[in-house]
Amino acid sequence: MMAILLRLLTIISISLPLIKSMTFDFPAVFNFGDSNSDTGALISAGIETLVPPNGHSYFHVPSGRYCDGRLIIDFLLDAMDLPFLNAYLDSLGLPSFQKGCNFAAAGSTILPATASSVSPFSFGIQVSQFLRFKARVLQLIAQGKEFDEYVPAQDYFEKGLYMFDIGQNDLAGAFYSKSLEQIIASIPTILLEFETGIKKLYEEGARHFWIHNTGPLGCLAQNVAKFGTDPSALDDLGCVSSHNQAAKTFNLQLHALCSKLQGQFPDANITYVDIYSIKSNLIANFSKYGFVQPIMACCGYGGPPLNYDSRVSCGQTKVVNGTSIAAKGCSDSSEYVNWDGIHYTETANQYVASQILTGKYSDPPFSHAMPFLLNLNF
Ligand SMILES: *[C@@H]1O[C@H](CO)[C@@H](O)[C@H](O)[C@H]1NC(C)=O
Ligand SMILES: *[C@@H]1O[C@H](CO)[C@@H](O)[C@H](O)[C@H]1NC(C)=O
Ligand SMILES: *[C@@H]1O[C@H](CO)[C@@H](O)[C@H](O)[C@H]1NC(C)=O
Repeated sequence: MMAILLRLLTIISISLPLIKSMTFDFPAVFNFGDSNSDTGALISAGIETLVPPNGHSYFHVPSGRYCDGRLIIDFLLDAMDLPFLNAYLDSLGLPSFQKGCNFAAAGSTILPATASSVSPFSFGIQVSQFLRFKARVLQLIAQGKEFDEYVPAQDYFEKGLYMFDIGQNDLAGAFYSKSLEQIIASIPTILLEFETGIKKLYEEGARHFWIHNTGPLGCLAQNVAKFGTDPSALDDLGCVSSHNQAAKTFNLQLHALCSKLQGQFPDANITYVDIYSIKSNLIANFSKYGFVQPIMACCGYGGPPLNYDSRVSCGQTKVVNGTSIAAKGCSDSSEYVNWDGIHYTETANQYVASQILTGKYSDPPFSHAMPFLLNLNF
């Protein structure tokens, strides 16, 4: 109850900067990314499976999302009065793509996938999937399917919002084989690949870009468990310093790239969103926002301080050395920022979305209509 009150107060006390009014009247959203915004791709592809308690807080079944409920993108689409996005790879149950399509897939990187990648759907492939999607839609429209309830309209490609949340896996994955210095040196190469994809989409008519930077990945239990065993590797929040340093460097260069692209494409709107600041504020000031656990995973194995064991993922049971170990959900996921050691809980995602919608973490910043805040039911 206290937690709910605190959250309400936070929402009510958000001050709206009067900067630029952003009207979220996008007819469609096309999203590119990794597990932070995957609404079913990797699961539809048959590469991984998700088991309960994934999904239990909202969908009541694993929904293809690495979460107990909704993701940041779900809350943002809700605020835009748009339905949740279907995954491009989801072929079951007549998925409607009329309001957009989601190309994000868990485990994806910006750099091309290698044989050992979790997801083959790296950024360039996701852009190719979009090109195929667009060509197919135009073909269907040419065949008279203009008002088909599953197919977006032709002009949606130009008026739609193109969202991006990718890069976390390029950095997090690299720490298993590279030093911090090597990783920082590789960031321009990663961002060049990103720029290539963005330019391709621009050439295809995309004009509204919304780019999330990457979060404080050093605060994820998975990384603390693997790289934070020596206390000197941790910062005062208990996060792995090197990982957060890589994320901050990546974000600085991503921000510069966004400014450069905005300069090159004056007829486009490129919005850079500082997810890192929102998430690190949440982790540092968790109790102020009604949370009890900033880093420990809700769904995992091993108990405090991390409740994370890389051998068994959320909901799974394994026999290790003759002993059965099970990664179970906690009793109240809304007290946790972290869901499974790698991803955020629905309650944390809702908090992050509410902060994005204040507009003050964006460049350019925007203010927005109050109804969005009222839509958020804590
Ligand atoms: C995009 O940018 C132009 C020029 O800065 C501005 O007039 C327009 O309102 C922006 N569109 C959106 C949807 O923010
Ligand atoms: C935590 O909250 C304090 C007080 O509002 C603020 O000064 C600080 O920047 C916050 N921490 C982070 C990491 O954002
Ligand atoms: C299994 O048991 C051996 C011997 O006790 C131990 O060295 C090893 O770390 C254990 N493996 C796991 C995965 O717990």
